[in-house]
Amino acid sequence: MVSIWFFVNASVLLFALLKICSIYIGVHIVFGALGLLFVLYNWTRHAVFSTIRSNISRKRKIKYANLSKFVLPIHKWTGSTALVLIIIHGTLVLQRFGFNWSNGKVVSGLVAGSILIAVVSFGWLRWYRTTVNRRYIHLILAYCLFVLIVVHLVF
Ligand code: HEM
Ligand code: HEM
Repeated sequence: MVSIWFFVNASVLLFALLKICSIYIGVHIVFGALGLLFVLYNWTRHAVFSTIRSNISRKRKIKYANLSKFVLPIHKWTGSTALVLIIIHGTLVLQRFGFNWSNGKVVSGLVAGSILIAVVSFGWLRWYRTTVNRRYIHLILAYCLFVLIVVHLVF
């Protein structure tokens, strides 16, 4: 059993980092970056699945499959946390800049945020009862989300 102190210490570190970062770069960016971290963690599931399906030894496949099974239970929580963080990010941004069609960052962010809502919704649907369609929709939306986040970060 992991000691509770592990979580207490991690929280203190996270709180301090959040405070230091937000002084220099603004809280809205901190929430955007944290959201990105959680989304990328979930998206890595796709990389793990691709690795398992690729041409590697059976032994390694089993190793990765077991690792995958181990991290699966937190997938739904990291994904949902990402959504909460991004909603906070979007709210802070809109409070600061307001909505304007000519602001590309706000527009690309809102599109990415909408897709994130869809990914998370289909994730829960898939968790509740998996069908082939739900699986593909969750995966295809996750692909779109990845592309849009890159667009959001670059432009
Ligand atoms: C999956 C969703 C999202 C992710 C991962 C994300 C991530 C980020 C990150 C890491 C930044 C800081 C880097 C940069 O300035 O280029 C940022 C900035 C920004 N985001 Fe998002 N974001 C998301 C959704 C949104 C939403 C819903 C909005 C809409 C209101 C939005 C509006 C903005 C704006 C306007 C900036 C620039 C802020 C500035 O220049 O101070 N983003 N985003
Ligand atoms: C940031 C949000 C999320 C992203 C980027 C994401 C991405 C992914 C990816 C890439 C896969 C593997 C797809 C495949 O090859 O079939 C997957 C599987 C799955 N996701 Fe998500 N997901 C997110 C959120 C969620 C949420 C909130 C849930 C809620 C329950 C969820 C439930 C599932 C389930 C049940 C699977 C199947 C797991 C398995 O069979 O190993 N996802 N997700």
